Amino acid sequence: MAKGLSTRHLIGIKNITEDDIRLIFETADNFKEVINRPIKKVPSLRDITVANLFFESSTRTRVSFELAERRLSADIVNFTASSSSVSKGETLLDTVNNILSMKVDMVVMRHPAPGACVYLSSRIPANIINAGDGTHEHPTQALLDAFSIREKLGDVTGKKIAIIGDILHSRVALSNVFCLLKLGAKVRVCGPPTLIPKHYAELGVEISHDVQETLRWCDVANVLRIQLERQDIKYFPSLREYHQYFGINRQMLESLDREIVIMHPGPINRGVEITSDVADSPHSIILQQVENGVAIRMAVLYLLAAQY
Ligand code: NCD
Repeated sequence: MAKGLSTRHLIGIKNITEDDIRLIFETADNFKEVINRPIKKVPSLRDITVANLFFESSTRTRVSFELAERRLSADIVNFTASSSSVSKGETLLDTVNNILSMKVDMVVMRHPAPGACVYLSSRIPANIINAGDGTHEHPTQALLDAFSIREKLGDVTGKKIAIIGDILHSRVALSNVFCLLKLGAKVRVCGPPTLIPKHYAELGVEISHDVQETLRWCDVANVLRIQLERQDIKYFPSLREYHQYFGINRQMLESLDREIVIMHPGPINRGVEITSDVADSPHSIILQQVENGVAIRMAVLYLLAAQY
């Protein structure tokens, strides 16, 4: 097993190796143990300053990164676009350079533009962690999803994972596909034809438009939200119809001859892609995913900082 990551930045899962992923998991195993202790803080990132730059709304990811940083004893600067000079016309590079003049070592950034993190990584000296760039990648979400599958099923290799929903607009879907394939899982995406981009066929995943058959096939169903805020045209007639054809409900799970694991990255639109009785059922590991997010982000921050 490698001792360090092969990269200075975490821009996407596409650019990291299977060894990187397994090292992050092993490090996260240790941090998960730490955050379940009465004293949850370790001094690993003392003297490191992290800027959390959120140019797009976020609840879980922002809170999770901030908790991870605090538990590693980092100094933190928080920045959201709505309360910053971005709304006064400043460029991304100017905003970030100003923040870096204040001697920031690492940047966690969420931005609506795909590629915003890679753009910054070639222009500023800090380590960059992508917390979601438009419809492109959301690497820490994919890592925590795969980590949660490994925790629940013992391993990811050889498992059948279905990603169901709005694949076209989802950075979670793309990062999950890269991560799960690198770990040797069998991956299938499922949704209406209009919400599955054609290039997915070349990534090495199966494509299906039949939810019931996909549920029979898979060990794990990772259910995604319809990203209405990213949809420029109508991709299906109505949310009611989407629910009727692609929503996951209890009867569908009960009709299977074995138990499958239900996941969702949040935020959930209850009654659209998933009913409450499924989201809150014992099949669901949705809250374990959130818990694991802190340990995974601690591991990523720690391993990147270890390169100083
Ligand atoms: C996702 C995101 O922002 O990409 N949520 C998350 O980070 N937990 C998925 C979504 O917005 O639907």
